[in-house]
Amino acid sequence: MLAFSSSCDDTAAAIVSDSGQIVSETNRHQHRVHEEHGGIVPGLAADHHLRNMPLVVRETLEKAAMRMEDVDAVAVTRGPGLPASLSVCLAAGKALAAVHAKPLVGVHHMEAHALMARMGAEDAVRFPYLCLLVSGGHTLSLVVHDVNEHTLLGSTRDDSVGEAFDKVARELAIPWLDAQDGGGPGPALEALARDGDPARFALPVPMLKSASATSLDFSFSGLKAHVRRMRERGAFSPAVRQDQADVAAAFQRAAADHLRRKTALALAHARAALRTAPTCIVASGGVASNHAVRAALAAVAARNGLPLVCPPPRLCTDNGVMIAWTGVERLRRGLLDPYTIDFIQRWPLDRLRHMGYQPRTSSF
Ligand code: KG4
Ligand code: ZN
Repeated sequence: MLAFSSSCDDTAAAIVSDSGQIVSETNRHQHRVHEEHGGIVPGLAADHHLRNMPLVVRETLEKAAMRMEDVDAVAVTRGPGLPASLSVCLAAGKALAAVHAKPLVGVHHMEAHALMARMGAEDAVRFPYLCLLVSGGHTLSLVVHDVNEHTLLGSTRDDSVGEAFDKVARELAIPWLDAQDGGGPGPALEALARDGDPARFALPVPMLKSASATSLDFSFSGLKAHVRRMRERGAFSPAVRQDQADVAAAFQRAAADHLRRKTALALAHARAALRTAPTCIVASGGVASNHAVRAALAAVAARNGLPLVCPPPRLCTDNGVMIAWTGVERLRRGLLDPYTIDFIQRWPLDRLRHMGYQPRTSSF
């Protein structure tokens, strides 16, 4: 399965075998391009996708020593995302699939995150399972009943959990770790928190009040604002390392506790209201590599007699492999798409069966 992806600011291609082996992959990031603008500029992202896509696909085929004739099918990211970016991978994927008469599979970005854990581990990650997507772009809990069948349980009411880590790291003026070490504000905050006392500052665990205590949603902006107000009133100094470490530890503990509580609620809801019996809990996304978060989720899993499964961090972030693997899963079920499909900018994950997809047995 050859996949093309250009959903946001990464241009990616990958080839994955039927059994879930990564044959080759190429990801070209645009971080530098958007850094000076302080956010993603859609037109600029599309320009770079247009320039990079042919090179990325060429490189992916060359690394695999394959030609288009050797590829069995083509998968493309179809949404949700920026229209100008999505158009690039769709145009490239559709054209190549049509010219070479290969089946085409349009992929939902979040379904790809949710199915990633099954690649090479289909016996361990059996349907249905509870999935937690915790990254800079997503904070979601869902039940993955099967390919194409998901029930969205909770999502964030404000900031994503990754954004909260990043903003609190900025409040604390934490220097970023070297990018080579999987750097960025989240890992830097985690490293600092190791030397901190989480009990020195009392940070409120979000959504404990009665009205929201039973909600399956998440909220991180209150916690972030609490840290900002503490700094403004001089409760700690970002210039004092022990203060930084103690606030980092307190924030991480509150955030992990929030994720633990909401995951436990989501699991109880899945079992009681949806009458499903999840076989495991899957945690995916950059924040799932945080040890405090992992320990909190492992506690929920253990208490409920379930394993916790986390894909390796590099497959948790946006990548082409997850699009290819989802293509494999969909192709197996005959969930193909015609060459005429367009992008879907807003595409709720639990509307997969009703929006966009018209199962067919052939692309032609
Ligand atoms: O999944 P991801 O790499 O990218 C997308 O959002 O697509 O997630 C990135 C987010 C960032 O906010 C980053 O700071 C956070 O995940 N993150 C972490 C850790 N590693 C990455 N947050 C806390 N602890 C970590 N170890
Ligand atoms: Zn993503």
